Amino acid sequence: MSDAKYLSLQNLSLAYGNSIAVKDLNLDIRKGELLALLGPSGCGKTTTMRAVAGLMPIAGGRIDLDGVDITRVSANKRAVGLVFQSYALFPHLTVYENVAFGLKLKGMTGRKLEDKVNSGLKSVGLSNFASRKPAELSGGQQQRVALARSMVMEPKVLLLDEPLSNLDARLRLEMRTELQRVQKETGVTMIFVTHDQIEALALADRIVVMKGGAIEQIGTPEEIYNAPVSSFVADFVGFENVFSLDNGQLKTPNGNVALSGPIPSAGSGGGAPDVIAGLAWRPRMVNLGSGPFRGTVRGTSFAGNTREYLLDTPLGPIKAETDAALPPHALGDELDFDLPIEKAARLNEV
Ligand SMILES: Nc1ncnc2c1ncn2[C@@H]1O[C@H](COP(=O)(O)OP(=O)(O)O)[C@@H](O)[C@H]1O
Ligand SMILES: [Mg+2]
Repeated sequence: MSDAKYLSLQNLSLAYGNSIAVKDLNLDIRKGELLALLGPSGCGKTTTMRAVAGLMPIAGGRIDLDGVDITRVSANKRAVGLVFQSYALFPHLTVYENVAFGLKLKGMTGRKLEDKVNSGLKSVGLSNFASRKPAELSGGQQQRVALARSMVMEPKVLLLDEPLSNLDARLRLEMRTELQRVQKETGVTMIFVTHDQIEALALADRIVVMKGGAIEQIGTPEEIYNAPVSSFVADFVGFENVFSLDNGQLKTPNGNVALSGPIPSAGSGGGAPDVIAGLAWRPRMVNLGSGPFRGTVRGTSFAGNTREYLLDTPLGPIKAETDAALPPHALGDELDFDLPIEKAARLNEV
């Protein structure tokens, strides 16, 4: 076992009855890594987590953890912690007793138990809440109890399945920072499941983008954000102008259109594919005011720092974004524009 393959999912296939939910998934997770599993609802994130936790049978493949094949090891012997969106705390137990519960089951007692629970509560900032019942806590505090309850078990891997999605925006941000801190302080290997790309980009060391039960792309937040490999990932991270390429030309509703220049060969570190099937631009990558293309402003909206435009063009609808400090364009204005080739994300699948 190398640290790079601390948790290793190999050709993992998972099914509910005859319905395949995850097919042939291969993923290696480094020791101490915070990995985000990102994808839309129904793509197989929870199913994958359940399999790692030992909560569902495996249709094919294997799972190794810390050099041991755990494919058929029962859930309670895996040293895998799981925190859900719903906190699933025991309502009749105090915060202290909730955190102590699993440790007691393992036979821990006395001073050792007390120290362990107290340090767990301290690590999530709940030392003063030990005697409260879950109903006397906010959603964010309940989620911290759930986190402490898992962490005191010293799992080899901690799985968090959309842990923040029940919280309001401000609390979500606060908990995100908290999670990151706990992870860095303890060095626990963590898989964080989310359908929110902002959350994944902000938190993760690496992001795995899933689609339809398979991995679409694996990369650092920067790689996923700047160099999505498919239209699916591109759209997910905000490249809203996506085109197929046909014989080196942009495919549009009005036929093929020549690019404003040659596609540069694979740049440095962009992870560009061998075969480029499409190109995509973020709205703010569209140059407004000059260029080979022309469009009519059909929509405009103010978004604080920026102004967004929807253009009706021979290429189809184009979304553009400019600095809000620039003089605004009005509905009906005709504008020249360019889709700068050098800024485009190169897609291997559209
Ligand atoms: N208990 C279940 N029985 C049958 N199908 C299920 C069950 N749970 C999930 N599925 C299906 O498996 C697929 C993956 O679901 P899930 O892993 O929950 O997705 P995600 O967590 O990414 O939203 C979906 O098509 C879903 O409908
Ligand atoms: Mg889910």
